[in-house]
Amino acid sequence: MSDRGIERGPSGCCICGLQFGDEGKGQIVDYLAGDFDVVVRYNGGANAGHSVWIGARRQAFHLMPSGILRDGVLNVIGNGTAVDPAQLIEEMDELEREGYAVDPERLAISDRAHVVMPYHKIEDELMDRAFASGENGELGTTRRGIGPCYADKAHRVTAVRMADIEDPAYLSSRLPRLVSLKNGVLGALAGESGLPFERLASEPLVERCAAWASRLAPYITDTAHLLVTAWRSGRNILFEGAHAALLDVDFGTYPFCTSSVCSPGGALAGTGLTADCLGEVVGVAKLYMSRVGAGPFPTEIRGAAADRVRDAGNEYGTSTGRPRRIGWLDLVALKHTAQVTGVTALAVTGLGVLSKLSELRVCVGYSLGAERIDRVPANVRRLGDVQPRYEELEPVDGPLDGVRRRADLPRGARRLIDRVESFVGVPVRYLCVSKGRSGVIG
Ligand code: IMO
Ligand code: MG
Repeated sequence: MSDRGIERGPSGCCICGLQFGDEGKGQIVDYLAGDFDVVVRYNGGANAGHSVWIGARRQAFHLMPSGILRDGVLNVIGNGTAVDPAQLIEEMDELEREGYAVDPERLAISDRAHVVMPYHKIEDELMDRAFASGENGELGTTRRGIGPCYADKAHRVTAVRMADIEDPAYLSSRLPRLVSLKNGVLGALAGESGLPFERLASEPLVERCAAWASRLAPYITDTAHLLVTAWRSGRNILFEGAHAALLDVDFGTYPFCTSSVCSPGGALAGTGLTADCLGEVVGVAKLYMSRVGAGPFPTEIRGAAADRVRDAGNEYGTSTGRPRRIGWLDLVALKHTAQVTGVTALAVTGLGVLSKLSELRVCVGYSLGAERIDRVPANVRRLGDVQPRYEELEPVDGPLDGVRRRADLPRGARRLIDRVESFVGVPVRYLCVSKGRSGVIG
C-alpha cells in the first residue's frame, strides 16, 4: 500500500489536459509520481511545456517526463511522441547540471518514436506563414516542427524514427533523396510565404544524426516491451499527457490544434500498453482559462481584466514565452472534453489567481443569435461566433495558504468547485492551492 492509499499491484493513472494546455499538468504529475514506478509521455514533443516548482525555482520540461525529479522512477518517452534529439539533449544536460542523474535506469526513449529533424522546424514556420493570407491567419504553432514531423509519420517514406538514427548506413542511403524532396517542398513554401530559405544538404544531417545517436543510444530501446514487462511485473504506470483535449487533433478546435491525440486513446497507441493499464483518468482543468496561438476561445477576455489575470498567473508560454490569451472558465467546453476523454476524476488549478480577482464568472452555455447551444460545435467558425452565457459566482475571497482540506477553502472556492462537479458530472479529486507538491490537496 502506498502512502496515499493506492493498492500495490499494478495500478495505472492517466493525466490529461482538458482545455487549451498549460492547465498545470506538470504539478499534478510531479505530485503523483511518488506513487508510481514509471512515468511515460505518450504524445507530442517539445511543443509541450510542463512546469514543476521546486521551492522558488521553476523546472520546465518539454520532452522529458515530469517524473525525472523523483528518485527511483523510470521515465519513458513513448513511441507516440515526436522527439527533437537536440532539445532532449539540452534538457538532459540542464538536469545533470542541477544535480539530477539522467541515466538509462531513469530514462528510456522509444526506438519507434519519430524524430523532429531540423527541416521540420523550418517547414512548420514556412507552412504557417505561407498559408496565412487575407482572412486566413496563422495557426501560431510553437514552431517546434511537430506538425510536419507527424505529417511525415503519416507519409512514411519521408519519416525518420529513433531506431533509424542508430543506423548510419540506412540514413546515408535515404537522407539524400529525402533532403532533395524537402528542398522542393520548402523552396515552394518559401516562395509562397516570401521568407528566405537556404537549401539543405544531406551530409551535415547524417553527421548530426550520428552525433545524436552516440549520445542517446544507451537510452533508445523497445519501450513498448519495457512497459508491458514492467506492468506485468506489478509496476505502477503514470501516463503524462501533453497538450490538451481542446488541442486534440480529433476533438480539439481543429484546425487550431496540435497534431497528436492528447486523450487516453493516444496514451494506448503512444505506448503499446492496453486499456486495462489506464486506471484512473485524471483531467486537469484551470478554473480560469488560457490559450496560446490562434483559434476560437468563446470566453476570452481582453484589456486590463486579462492583464490582471495574466500577471497574477504568470501566463506566458513555457515553450515560446508568448503572452497567453485569457478567459473565464468555459464549462460547456469542459463537459465536452471530460466526455471525449472519459476522465474519472478532475484536478483543478488556478484558485490562487482567482483569489486575486473581485469577480468570478463561468460559462454555462453558448448563444448564436436566437439559437442556444450547449455542445462544442465542430465548425470552428460557428464556435468563433458564439456568445457565452455566464453565471456570476461569489469570488474566491479568502486565504488559500495553508489550506489542507477542501472543507477549509474559502466559501467562494468551495461553491465554484461544487458547480464544476455538478455541471461536468465528474468529481474533483485533486485541488491545487499553491505551487509545488505541498500545494496539492489530494
Ligand atoms: P502543454 O503540454 C499550450 C498550441 C500552440 C498552437 C497549437 C499548435 O504545455 O499544455 P503545435 O506547435 O503543437 O503545432 O501548435 O497548439 N499548443 C499548446 N498550447 N500548451 C501546450 O502544451 C501546447 N501545445 C501546443 O500554441 O496554438
Ligand atoms: Mg505548456
